[in-house]
Amino acid sequence: MLWNSLTALALAAPSHALIRFGCSQLVVDRLDPLVNPGLNPSPHLHQIIGGNSFNMSMEPGSHDLAALSTCTTCQPSEDFSNYWTAALYFRAKNGTFKRVPQKGNVGFEGSQGGMTVYYMQNQLADYQQKSKVKAFQPGFRMLIGDPMANTKAQADRYPQLTYTCLQDMSTRFPETKNFPTKPCPAGIMVNLRFPTCWDGKNLDSPDHISHMSYPASGTFESQGPCPASHPERMPQLMYEVIFETKDFNNKNDWPADGSQPFVWSFGDGTGYGSHGDYVFGWKDQSLQKIMDEACYVNCKSMKTQSMSAMNSCAVKNRVNEDIGDNNWLKELPGQPTMRLKAADGTV
Ligand SMILES: *[C@@H]1O[C@H](CO)[C@@H](O)[C@H](O)[C@H]1NC(C)=O
Ligand SMILES: *[C@@H]1O[C@H](CO)[C@@H](O)[C@H](O)[C@H]1NC(C)=O
Repeated sequence: MLWNSLTALALAAPSHALIRFGCSQLVVDRLDPLVNPGLNPSPHLHQIIGGNSFNMSMEPGSHDLAALSTCTTCQPSEDFSNYWTAALYFRAKNGTFKRVPQKGNVGFEGSQGGMTVYYMQNQLADYQQKSKVKAFQPGFRMLIGDPMANTKAQADRYPQLTYTCLQDMSTRFPETKNFPTKPCPAGIMVNLRFPTCWDGKNLDSPDHISHMSYPASGTFESQGPCPASHPERMPQLMYEVIFETKDFNNKNDWPADGSQPFVWSFGDGTGYGSHGDYVFGWKDQSLQKIMDEACYVNCKSMKTQSMSAMNSCAVKNRVNEDIGDNNWLKELPGQPTMRLKAADGTV
């Protein structure tokens, strides 16, 4: 009996790391150093986490995130990467908008906004993490998703960008490609999983996507092989962003036509345009070292900081505008001509 359970434990022991950590909000600002470097303001609002060297321009080569940052909003104290997504708004019946705040995940309840980040070598539910991956390199950046997508077919090009309607904080199914169609008592969780196969050469590409690829067949979850063009298997980077909808769940405040009232900061009321951005900034070889440890979530080589240290790191807004945290806005920041679309393309 004892022998059997010890064997089971030994068989289940992880061989490489999976990490999960919380990050507080660094800033919510209309900047996008990846797609619109140097542009102030960029077309739409983002919510950003990570190292405080975040700026309107972060050119590879000259902008070393780990060297330039003096703090990070992420729990691992050596992670000065920046991670961001669009911001979310609630549109009232009278057509005005208020920004939907974020909240910390289970285990990170004290977090000011922000999101949860994972790096994994096999799928989340796999305790063994048998695959060995190469960590991202300094200068690496990527994005996934397309803000212009407004049909399900267009969204399906990015199979792992989804929404979970949280009945409680542990809800994980189902995942949908469009915004939830009913109020979600514990919030809307946005799930973003990045592609995992790298071309092995380019730290970036003109569209910030094509130096990465999905597996040639199957999925990351099924351990599908990487294509010959993108042979290097990388960690799967995943974001969970939890939007706290409790102030917006009263059905009487929802549109009378039965549509749902949430809209991304770029004017997408379908949810199909979900996208996320990543600029690598771990100190030295710290990410590779962690990835090589045999651990599941509790990884000794991941140096951590306190929640209060995470919450006290921030950068000032560079764009001076009302983003609708306290007031109802007549239009979304930077989106005066926005035309709202509802799921499956109806305008
Ligand atoms: C941010 O970028 C601007 C413009 O390139 C520059 O003047 C400024 O010094 C940068 N700020 C920080 C904190 O790096
Ligand atoms: C619009 O609707 C919101 C939410 O119901 C309300 O608080 C606000 O006062 C309204 N604004 C106008 C101009 O009616």
